[in-house]
Amino acid sequence: RTLKIKMQCRSDIHRLNAPFLAIYESLVPAEEEKAQQKQLLALLERLVCKEWPKARLYLYGSCASSFGVSRSDIDVCLAIEDGDINKSEILLRLADILQSDNLQNVQALTRARVPIVKLMDPVTGISCDICINNVLAVINTKLLRDYAQIDARLRQLAFIVKHWAKSRGVNETYQGTLSSYAYVIMCIHFLQQRRPAILPCLQEMEPTYSVTVDDIECAFFDQVGKLCDFGSRNKETIAQLVWAFFNYWAYRHDYANSVISVRTGSIISKQTKDWTRRIGNDRHLICIEDPFEVSHDLGRVVDKYSIKVLREEFERAADIMQYDPNPCVKLFEPY
Ligand code: CTP
Ligand code: MG
Repeated sequence: RTLKIKMQCRSDIHRLNAPFLAIYESLVPAEEEKAQQKQLLALLERLVCKEWPKARLYLYGSCASSFGVSRSDIDVCLAIEDGDINKSEILLRLADILQSDNLQNVQALTRARVPIVKLMDPVTGISCDICINNVLAVINTKLLRDYAQIDARLRQLAFIVKHWAKSRGVNETYQGTLSSYAYVIMCIHFLQQRRPAILPCLQEMEPTYSVTVDDIECAFFDQVGKLCDFGSRNKETIAQLVWAFFNYWAYRHDYANSVISVRTGSIISKQTKDWTRRIGNDRHLICIEDPFEVSHDLGRVVDKYSIKVLREEFERAADIMQYDPNPCVKLFEPY
């Protein structure tokens, strides 16, 4: 391992730019798909407002953060007045309403960690999850979307990493690997750490946007139009960044002591967060601080078995990027 830390990037790395960009382009959803998503949202808004006139629907997740690949499900949050609401009752009622309107595969999952109603629109084939009052998710979605607007390389890298994770079976939280959201946070952190930096730390800048949700203050600089050449001093290309990303998670990250923190734009120690040992089900084997719920380790789903799987996959990817003549094929090979 110490030997590998000194690993230099292969000399023909530039040759790989075009194929990586082509993969990225092939994953970007077409305008038509975006229009269909909007249509479905409008239909849901009509149905919801008939029943709950004061309720609002918000898109969140990858379709709203700009990290959604083609044919992604859409995530919708139903914001409904607080007070004495019973989420299960609302979800069951919502499921009834959707079913009566001929939406397909309607299912209320009232006992999930985040209770939702699932549905599929038979007209467009788009699937959708609706949750209730998950306002923090709407706000962290905005943070991700704002970061994506600063430098195009973030979206390129995240699409490739997500595509890799799905192909290799390491994007399954119920099996102890990481969520898409966690992978995007890892990409943001990685680009904040490049020298020169490719992304700033929006939460360390003078806030231009601020809301308090569930007693958590969410504040950051969101006038990202002013930052559009922030990363321009760094000339690294997507192929170099994919190489370096996997190299970082395979050989450079200190799993024993470090927490990655997009909130501070740096690495912080496990010690300062008291994430040094297992507490309940949180094992802290790979530590990824949520930007707003700072007590929330996005790596907490990872257990002693899946950490091995994950690290072996990072090493496999790093080695392919280093040595394989045709990494764009091997990297995404189904597991
Ligand atoms: N989310 C969160 N905390 C988590 C996981 C998810 O707040 N631990 C929220 C985030 O707002 C995220 C959204 O739920 O954007 C959807 O999460 P996820 O399905 O992981 O990400 P997507 O970006 O929607 O990925 P995919 O394209 O794979 O659906
Ligand atoms: Mg999603």
